Amino acid sequence: MDKFIINGGRRLKGRITIGGAKNAALPILAGTLLVSEGESIIENVPNIRDIDVMLKVLEVLGANIDYDPDKHRVIISALSIDNYRAPYDLVRKMRASFLVMGPLLGRFGKAEVSLPGGCVLGSRPIDLHIKGFQSLGAEVTEEDGYIKAEAKRLRGGEVYFDRPSHTGTENIMLASVLGKQTTRIVNAACDPEIIDLADFLNLMGAKIKGAGSTFIEIEGVDLLRGCHYSVMPDRLVAGTYACAAAISGGELYLDGASEEELKLPLMKLKNMGVEISGDGGGLFISAPHRLKGVDITTFPFPGFPTDLQACFMSLSTVSNGVSTIVETVFENRFGHAMELKRLGADIKVTGDRAVVNGVGKLKGTSVMASDIRAGAALVIAALAAEGSTEVLRVYHIDRGYERMDEALKSVGADIKRVSD
Ligand code: EPU
Repeated sequence: MDKFIINGGRRLKGRITIGGAKNAALPILAGTLLVSEGESIIENVPNIRDIDVMLKVLEVLGANIDYDPDKHRVIISALSIDNYRAPYDLVRKMRASFLVMGPLLGRFGKAEVSLPGGCVLGSRPIDLHIKGFQSLGAEVTEEDGYIKAEAKRLRGGEVYFDRPSHTGTENIMLASVLGKQTTRIVNAACDPEIIDLADFLNLMGAKIKGAGSTFIEIEGVDLLRGCHYSVMPDRLVAGTYACAAAISGGELYLDGASEEELKLPLMKLKNMGVEISGDGGGLFISAPHRLKGVDITTFPFPGFPTDLQACFMSLSTVSNGVSTIVETVFENRFGHAMELKRLGADIKVTGDRAVVNGVGKLKGTSVMASDIRAGAALVIAALAAEGSTEVLRVYHIDRGYERMDEALKSVGADIKRVSD
């Protein structure tokens, strides 16, 4: 298990190129299972652990994978899929493995995927995915810890989400592109990664309209052909490095970051005193003054992203004044608060609300990452802490950030990776 050792207090300055988005690449890779003619060439795939898990799942199902992580390119042939079961030992490593259910069901009319099991962010059920598959005409059962779904050919239909689910929307899109008739998703999630998935599927021959809005219409087609596609840049990685610039009082250019996809986090950063400008190709972030406290409520896109809540909590620990952070998307996403307190932060958590009283300084000590974004937030806090901070269990960070230590080091952070 690796850990990071960070000596805080360095002002970050320079340029970071934002790589491909994990949460777009994962459903796109799952979507390559739908192809029955030609191969899929996917570019800008981030070199992170969650991608390794997804590729392993595809391999277990019988896909041929040619992956060059340094070039960020994967070539996938799904012509010889001969297994329809995604096993527990892979799905438990990454819930998003459940995204293969939609394409398997859509193309082959059968799929068995292990229940993802417990999750550090709360119970995280998959009932919306299952209800959606049933609305399309699938028979879904649960047996020995596996969800089994069957349908001769999905007919399509109306899918109503009680609440917008990001991967739920993607799974239904993936299942229905080869449907007999038209599918309509009502109260769909609107995240930019869903648009990226729709663009990819449409390039393969799918007929999807409305992705990025709450109403998506998918007209079933008979066949999808392989294509060449490049994954969108990662808005959450961009948001994380924007926070790194802000907490260090630094100046960063984030190459590939888009203002459009980060509207609320950027507005909150501006409220905190951060200066931001874009040039069409990326964002300049600079933080010339001490940060001011901020109030945040997480919400499905275009609301404030739950995935940046932890990093903003780190910022608020050293900001001037009181910040209130409310988490409405996940029931248990304050795991980082206790660790931030170990660094000297003044945080009170009650239910879904954290009240953070900004302190003058954090002080380095040992802290432990509990999930991808909580880990990133601890690194951000450590950049501002006096002395040395040890961030343990960085494998969580490696699930979603490509070599975060090297990226931060390249702009002046004093950070090293140590194998325990
Ligand atoms: N929910 C249900 N039933 C379902 C599905 C979701 O009740 O069947 C609930 C969840 O428990 C949660 C809320 O609905 O309270 C929203 O969950 P959603 O389904 O939107 O989350 P997800 O699709 O499982 C994706 C991202 C997460 C991100 C969330 C919210 C991927 C692979 N994962 O998860 O990313 O936090 O949307 O935007 O796209 C991360 O990258 O670190 C990460 C956790």
